[in-house]
Formats: sequence, C-alpha cells, structure tokens
Amino acid sequence: MPTNATLKLDNVEYSLPIMVGTEGEKAVDIRNLRNDSGYVTYDEGYGNTGSCQSAVTFIDGEAGILRYRGYPIEQLAEHSSFIETAYLIVNGELPLPAQRKRFSQLLTENSPIHSGMEHLFEGFPSDAHPMAILSAMLNSLGSYYPHLATNDHQRDLETYEATSAVIISKVRTIAAYSYRASRGLPYIHPRRDLPYCENFLHMMFSTPYEPYIALPEVAQALNLFLLLHADHEQNCSTSTVRMVASSGANLFASAAAGVCALWGPLHGGANMAVIEMLKSIHAEGDDGTKFIEQAKLGKADKRLMGFGHRVYKHYDPRAKIIKESFYSALASLGIKDDPLLNIAMRLEEAALRDEYFLARKLYPNVDFYSGLIMRAIGIPENMFTVMFAIGRMPGWIANWKEVAANRKGRIYRPRQIYTGHNLRDYVPPHKRTA
Ligand SMILES: CC(C)(COP(=O)(O)OP(=O)(O)OC[C@H]1O[C@@H](n2cnc3c(N)ncnc32)[C@H](O)[C@@H]1OP(=O)(O)O)[C@@H](O)C(=O)NCCC(=O)NCCS
Repeated sequence: MPTNATLKLDNVEYSLPIMVGTEGEKAVDIRNLRNDSGYVTYDEGYGNTGSCQSAVTFIDGEAGILRYRGYPIEQLAEHSSFIETAYLIVNGELPLPAQRKRFSQLLTENSPIHSGMEHLFEGFPSDAHPMAILSAMLNSLGSYYPHLATNDHQRDLETYEATSAVIISKVRTIAAYSYRASRGLPYIHPRRDLPYCENFLHMMFSTPYEPYIALPEVAQALNLFLLLHADHEQNCSTSTVRMVASSGANLFASAAAGVCALWGPLHGGANMAVIEMLKSIHAEGDDGTKFIEQAKLGKADKRLMGFGHRVYKHYDPRAKIIKESFYSALASLGIKDDPLLNIAMRLEEAALRDEYFLARKLYPNVDFYSGLIMRAIGIPENMFTVMFAIGRMPGWIANWKEVAANRKGRIYRPRQIYTGHNLRDYVPPHKRTA
C-alpha cells in the first residue's frame, strides 16, 4: 500500500501522507495542505472527512457492521447488558467482576439528585420539551459538582470515573423527573434495590401509593434499546460533544451540547418522527401504499421516516436485533393487533421490495422499530429522544475522554469557503435604499 498520495495544484506536486486505521480504513492526511499550498478541502456535511482518530466504535456501513471496542453488537446484545456495555465503552475493556460491582455501586450511590435541583424543574413551563429540560439540567448538574467540572482537562480526567458514573446514573433520574414535572406528577425517588432499567421505569411510572413493577421482557427491551444506542461513531451529536470538548469544556457541558444536537428530527428525533408518520398514515385511512408512492417523489417532508442512513447502505444491524426483542416485548404486554404496527410492517415489506428504495440502499434503521418499542412500553412520544440520549451517554463520555486525553489535540476549527460580498464601504442609515 502506498504511504503517500500526490496532489497536483497549480502545477506544484504535494506529497500527502496516507493514514491507515486498524480495520484498514484509508485516509489522506491533509493537515498541512493549507500551509503548504493555500488550498483547503471542501466537504459540506463531512461525509468524506475523518475528523479525529478514535478507538471506541467501528462501523462498516456497506457491510452492516457495528462494533463497540472491537466487540460485535450482536454478541453484546445477546450476552451483555446496557450497564456492562456502558462500562466497556467508557473504560475500554469489559469489567472484571470487582470492577462491575464497583461501577454498579457508584451508579446506585449517584442515582438521587440534589434536592436543590428538584426546584429547577419547577421553573420550566408545564409544556417544556423534555429534551430542553434534559440539556439544561445536565449543564446545571456540573455546577453541583464544581470539582468534577473544572474546565481543566487534566483535572477533569483525574475524576473521570466519578464523573462518568454521576452522569450515567443521574441522566436517568433527570429524564424521569422531567417527564413527571411535565405531567405535574410528584417525583418518585430512585430505589437502591433495582437495576438500572427497572429503576428508571419505577421513577417514570410508580405512584406514591402503588409501585410499578416492570415485566422482565419490558425491562429487557429497554435494556437492549439503550445498549443498541450506546455509541455510533462520529455522528452529529458525538461530533458536537467532541467539538465542545476541544475547547477545554468539562464533560457535563459537552454532554449537554450532545443532547441539543440529538434533538433534531434527522438524528435523535427520527424515532418520534416514525410514530408521527404512522399516525398520520392511519388518520388518513391509508394502509401505507399511498405514503410509499409519495415518499418516492423525493420530497424532504414526505420521506419514509426510519428508512435510510448516512452510513449504513445495508440493513442497520441494530434494526435486526431490536425487531426481535420488540416482538417478545409485545407478546408479554399482550399487544396483538396494533394499527400503527400493522402499517409499519406493511411499509417495511413494501419498501424492501420496491426498486426506488433498493436502488438507493434505503433499509430500515434502528429508529423504525425503537419508536414502536418505546410506545409499547408506555414512554410518551416527546420522551423518545430523551431515551436515546440516556443510551448514547456512554459514547459521548468516551469520546469526550479521547479529546480531553489528547495532549496534542487542537481546538476544532474548520475552514469555510466564503461566498458573501466582497469588500464594500459602510452606508450611513439616511443613505440606505431598500
Ligand atoms: C438518514 C438520512 C438523513 C440519510 O441521508 P443521506 O445519506 O444524506 O441520504 P440522501 O439525503 O443523500 O438521500 C439519497 C437518496 O435517497 C432518497 N432518500 C433518502 N432517505 C429517504 C427516505 N427515508 N425516504 C425516501 N427517500 C429517501 C433521497 O431523496 C435521495 O434520492 P435521490 O438520489 O433521488 O435524490 C435520510 O435517509 C433520511 O432522511 N431518512 C429518514 C430520517 C431517519 O430515519 N433518520 C434516522 C437516521 S438514524
């Protein structure tokens, strides 16, 4: 394999080093290109740009491969749990029994939130979106732990174990509280005896006079949902976390920025958009046939939500796994004939046979099923993206650490191709014309 590429610009040849990742991914290193030639590269949307080196997650979108720290997602989904996988992602290795125990203890100790923080929820209007509450609360959380949020990366790295446990544990409590605040319901405190997912469902759905006992299949479906979302390489929110971290910002602030990036419908909001799409198809009395035809016209507002992926040009491996768990959760909940589910199945069947979708390699992504799972568990639609954020937290944390630990790292500062006005003189107000 060549070690250098040659680029000819204005009749001058530049030698650019070639980098190769551990899975054979090749890249042309253009870090000195502007200095040497005056040129920058242009790649709006960064679809062709390696923005960092990372050892967390490997994806091969063409082959439908997803691995966390080298382990295939299929094996983790079958044998691991969200918390064990979170440990793996955050710390780089599967935990030894003593490490796993300590991590669980830290999560349990950190599950309650400061009573002062409870009052912050009251300041939000009753219809505030839980994602707005979550990002505000995560950022505020740092102010309750100033020694963990110093904005000095070396110091923040020394407390990384504690900070990651605080965030992974409390994000679940904050999420449940934001739901209860939005419904005007009293807060239900976490229990020390419940595992992560069961504890979350307890804080969401118990009442002061009746505990909510999660069915094992329901807790398992949630566990799997979180595990499947735990990291996904350099997507919009993770790159946002890295961008914010590159300025020296602490983990709380960086993770809060990740929540904001996740909120949009093309990223974390897609699972909610799937349910909205299914509802509107149902309300129009369509069985999905008309909608598919509209989706093929290529209009951005009529896309088949939950289909297509920037990276996967093959069946999303997470979609396969979640689909199976979905059916077992439905069976345990006694849900047999749900009109939205029927439409979803018809849409999937039709799209997988249709030349438009096949030619463009548009297959169901994880969001196609995850919204349906959340709905079956009883999670309200405006909480779907919050659930995604809880799941993605380990990935954001691990990516923050890579940035913080990189002594040679520089602040993220892309270039642009300026397309505005050329130099012009200031016009005083009385001389301006429309
Ligand atoms: C995920 C997504 C943003 C990826 O976008 P992308 O890689 O930039 O793909 P493009 O927007 O370049 O689309 C490529 C082609 O497929 C079409 N297309 C992409 N997704 C489509 C969808 N969900 N429904 C119908 N057509 C779609 C585009 O119109 C385009 O067609 P053209 O070549 O005739 O112009 C896009 O597939 C999408 O909007 N999907 C629905 C939202 C979703 O499920 N997001 C969750 C991602 S996990």
